[in-house]
Amino acid sequence: MKTISLMSAKGGCSKTTTSINIAVGLSKTSKVLLIDLDPQGNSSKRFFANYMELEGICELLRKEKGYEECIYHTQFENLDIIPSKKNLFVLKKEMLYASHGIQQLKLKNALDPIRRDYDYIIIDNHPDIDLLISNALMCSDMVIIPVNPDADSVELSDSIEGMNLTLQNIREAIEEGEIPEMQFRILLTMTDNTKASRVFEDYLRSVYGDYVLNSCINYQSAPVKNKNKSGGFVIEKNDTRIGNSYKALVDEIRSIS
Ligand SMILES: Nc1ncnc2c1ncn2[C@@H]1O[C@H](COP(=O)(O)OP(=O)(O)O)[C@@H](O)[C@H]1O
Ligand SMILES: [Mg+2]
Repeated sequence: MKTISLMSAKGGCSKTTTSINIAVGLSKTSKVLLIDLDPQGNSSKRFFANYMELEGICELLRKEKGYEECIYHTQFENLDIIPSKKNLFVLKKEMLYASHGIQQLKLKNALDPIRRDYDYIIIDNHPDIDLLISNALMCSDMVIIPVNPDADSVELSDSIEGMNLTLQNIREAIEEGEIPEMQFRILLTMTDNTKASRVFEDYLRSVYGDYVLNSCINYQSAPVKNKNKSGGFVIEKNDTRIGNSYKALVDEIRSIS
């Protein structure tokens, strides 16, 4: 059983797109639970148009509702989801001002009874570094940080800055004894044939070596944005390059012990 968080202190680097596609890909041969831990509910809305009306992660963490009311089967046979919506913002505030209990352990405690039902739990995170992120770190075995070439140089890149802030946050949490050692990997996303793309890849592979996943996800706008028919599940599209990139990524994730 493995819990994998998609995390970066930068928005728009493909956390959600990657979360939903690896969750679908892994579910072909494994039992998978996708947790939307972003109050914006971007993963949730890909599966359920009425996600705002659903019970979800907020109700589960508050213990207002049970597992059977917060976990939903998706259209994919072995994939379940715990959705989220805007009330997660309120929970975040409640956790910040709570006077009792260890707030960082809420998600871990909630997952412990159901962990055995799944082979993989995938957590789609929001970009802030806050108590929700601490909760995700406390129960993740591995963090995957997506980095997209978003500038001409790495020095000007928000996504490299987001990666560095996330790595620093993980390091501090380990040093303070909050979390045990954890695996991390860097995933190049939205790559193309530009010079910037090559500069980013060379930089990351030279500095972070084997921590950079071999698989890269290429930029391919049409299938990702065309959500009507496919819900943005590009991994289902055998005839697209991006679909095959995500399949290779899923194989690589499976191969990491
Ligand atoms: N490989 C890709 N090719 C083209 N567009 C992409 C790709 N990955 C993500 N996008 C688009 O970029 C935007 C941000 O992606 P998203 O997965 O929501 O990022 P995050 O969750 O990190 O904010 C979305 O509009 C998404 O459709
Ligand atoms: Mg997102």
